[in-house]
Amino acid sequence: MTTLNSSEPMSQAHTSVTGLCWGDEGKGKIVDLLAPAFDLVIRYNGGANAGHTVWVDGQKFALHLIPSGVLHDGAIGVIGPGVVVDPDQLLDEIDGLTQRGITVEGKLWISDRAHVVLEYHKVEDRLREGSAGEDAKIGTTARGIGPCYADKMQRLSAIRMCDLQNSDLLEEKLVQVVDIKKRTFQAVYGDDGGIDGKRIFKQLKENCRRLAGYIRGTTSALGQAATSGKRMLFEGANGMLLDVNHGTYPFVTSSSTGPWGIAAGAGVAPQTVRHVVGVTKAYSTRVGAGPFPTELNDAFGDQIRNQGNEFGTTTGRPRRCGWLDSVALRYSIQLGGITEVALMHLDTLAGFDQIGICTGYQLGDERLDTLPADANVLESVTPIIEMQPGFEANLRECSTIEELPPEAIAYINRVESLIGAR
Ligand code: IMO
Ligand code: MG
Repeated sequence: MTTLNSSEPMSQAHTSVTGLCWGDEGKGKIVDLLAPAFDLVIRYNGGANAGHTVWVDGQKFALHLIPSGVLHDGAIGVIGPGVVVDPDQLLDEIDGLTQRGITVEGKLWISDRAHVVLEYHKVEDRLREGSAGEDAKIGTTARGIGPCYADKMQRLSAIRMCDLQNSDLLEEKLVQVVDIKKRTFQAVYGDDGGIDGKRIFKQLKENCRRLAGYIRGTTSALGQAATSGKRMLFEGANGMLLDVNHGTYPFVTSSSTGPWGIAAGAGVAPQTVRHVVGVTKAYSTRVGAGPFPTELNDAFGDQIRNQGNEFGTTTGRPRRCGWLDSVALRYSIQLGGITEVALMHLDTLAGFDQIGICTGYQLGDERLDTLPADANVLESVTPIIEMQPGFEANLRECSTIEELPPEAIAYINRVESLIGAR
């Protein structure tokens, strides 16, 4: 087993921390633990759909866009070109940190290539989810993520951070884009969303003024940093099973969440990221819709939710809870070339007589050992559950592996052997 404070060998090359499941694995805590050994902590995907809760000096911080690493004195936080940035949300976070005595001035870089999430993206997210039938709802975080990435791919209607620097061109473009959006929303949803181009522009202009000092060419800045031997930590948002290519599509987010997203979303050479830490909880959770083979709709599920405080950081929604799924974990670990796994929230399982682990999926007469592409097929599998003895002890008092109760050690060993990683 790897002990997580062994950051020494990791600091020799770039490292990434990514969620192996459907988000909320505890990535923020691992990033926070590793960050002091790095010069730059970099977000490469997603946007304010992420919610990373970390504790520093007894204070709780919930960050959505700002990389958690900025809470440490030494590290610079970078928001890469692959992130979609909501300026209102970002300024709220900056102000929140300032109020608590943490300044990000000079410590936060925002890529000039990053796309901007605007009010109409959030409106569209809400209208689309609101009008979809029960089976078609994704259960998004309503942060405008999908609509903003769609505009990015669409190209003509997108606005990037570098566009904020020329306000005449920006106003003209925004007024045009908002006009098209209003007409589209009205035609498709029978509601134009109450958006107003002039108002959005006014707000954005004010935001631009406040954000100007943070926006820069992060791609060349990271290139220079790499040349001068700076160490980088990549902070993944969301989770690999929410990846747009490899996740449980269409119940996914709209970005490349895994380590494969780093090269594109941060603008660094892929071969320089040598350590890939995958994060999972000792059980599974999911928020929003989509297949979840090991979900427990019973007292066990409720017990996990209550003991683990499984309520969303971003939306406050109760999380769906279930046993650890070794099929899904093995899939993510292979896909991401994971070199180490951080197993979080083992303490949450204290007090269960037995703890379940999913070892395979049953689909009619067939046994599946990997994730099918079709969400409907994944929805209809029955998980094959193996029960392990539980433990009573409060693991929060243990600080080494040896102090854990033997049942907890046996559980970890069994998980390691099933997922094929340490
Ligand atoms: P962190 O970084 C948990 C889920 C949403 C929804 C789907 C699509 O905190 O682990 P989106 O708003 O991205 O279009 O929603 O993805 N989702 C997350 N769930 N944690 C996250 O991030 C998530 N990011 C997206 O609940 O099911
Ligand atoms: Mg979350």
